[in-house]
Amino acid sequence: MIKGKQIVVGITGGIAAYKAADLVRQFRKRDAAVDVIMTRNAQHFVTPLTFQTISGHPVFTDLFGNYQPEISHIALADKADILIIAPATANIIAKIASGLADDLLSTVALATTAPLLIAPAMNTKMWENPITQDNVKKLKERTITIVDPSTGELACGYEGKGRLAEIEDIVDKTLDILTPKDLHGERILITAGPTHEPIDPIRMLTNRSSGKMGYALAEASYRRGAEVMLVTGPTTLMPLDHIHTIRVTNAFEMDKAVSKHYKSCSIVIKAAAVSDYRPKKSFREKVKKTHKTLTLELERNPDILYKMGKNKGSRFLVGFAAETKNLISQAKSKLDRKNLDLIVVNHALQNDGGFGSDSNEVTLIDYEGKVETLPRLKKTELADKILDTIKAVKAEKKATAGQKKATDSAVKRKNR
Ligand code: CTP
Repeated sequence: MIKGKQIVVGITGGIAAYKAADLVRQFRKRDAAVDVIMTRNAQHFVTPLTFQTISGHPVFTDLFGNYQPEISHIALADKADILIIAPATANIIAKIASGLADDLLSTVALATTAPLLIAPAMNTKMWENPITQDNVKKLKERTITIVDPSTGELACGYEGKGRLAEIEDIVDKTLDILTPKDLHGERILITAGPTHEPIDPIRMLTNRSSGKMGYALAEASYRRGAEVMLVTGPTTLMPLDHIHTIRVTNAFEMDKAVSKHYKSCSIVIKAAAVSDYRPKKSFREKVKKTHKTLTLELERNPDILYKMGKNKGSRFLVGFAAETKNLISQAKSKLDRKNLDLIVVNHALQNDGGFGSDSNEVTLIDYEGKVETLPRLKKTELADKILDTIKAVKAEKKATAGQKKATDSAVKRKNR
């Protein structure tokens, strides 16, 4: 969602200046364009060449610098989609709070109308000083986003609040600010990961799903303003703190959790790889290898998505399918059978089927049979593409339903 965005990163003079290199790298990794402004003091800690190399552009250091191509402080302020100051010293915070503009960074901060995100880092005493706290309060009141410093051991030898926030948190806040809240008002139920069907206390039936696609969808939906509920099978992924998450182990538990929350949802995305069968008997003790052969009898699990399709109402249902042959026809018949609006299908034998990987190559098929094959994408990008398609198909469906209603009423009036 920040691909192609213009980010201006301002770096001020503190030991945490070196951490800003990773911040710039994270934005470049997501294909954003980054311009870096360094204050004079920042250059005591890291050289502009470091940031020039990482950002791929010359670094701006002077208000009256001779830059090629020529760019003024106003042009820099105008082109920014966001200005981030990290680390921000007590000095730059005070200057912005007072409207002072005596160097390039403070001038750009005053001249820009783009959102401003500030990540302070300084000695604990400086941070706790009521003057700094007043300045921070002033900035917050002006809707400037502050990513608070964290607590820990500081480079100056003190222990306390003042360390630059985690880069990941600054990146997260940036994504949040730059993402339009186009799914506001939607309640999205997402399932993710595999299910574990126990054989005995040690063994189980499961599959290779990592949960990454479902988690990426949950994260992207949340960022786009939706209310999200994630029902997840066992995964090794980091929990998504801000997302209401229900952890389940087997298909029965997933069915129960989904049924409980289904009613209140407007969209359901079933990315979980649910085990179709479970061992008929789950042994209380470990099964010992006493026989030459062993037969496991399996019985069917509930088809959660099929049940939802039967009881769909006005909800928008999205299914996933991994197939090994006749991709499109198999997926289309699944879409019909389960009464879905959209199905996301991938080839389980190609590119390792996307299992466990950070990227995948999928085809989307909507309820009208329209097929769109996407190139291989990172799952985070794919999540946004899927959400874009859900939004578009949902709007189309609503428009068609509106037209049909209007035609039906016209026919009724005519026949009266
Ligand atoms: N699904 C489900 N409950 C099941 C099995 C599958 O809700 N017991 C959902 C999956 O989450 C997925 C979709 O149905 O969104 C398709 O799953 P898939 O395993 O590809 O299809 P099946 O219906 O199980 O058919 P088959 O295994 O025969 O291809």
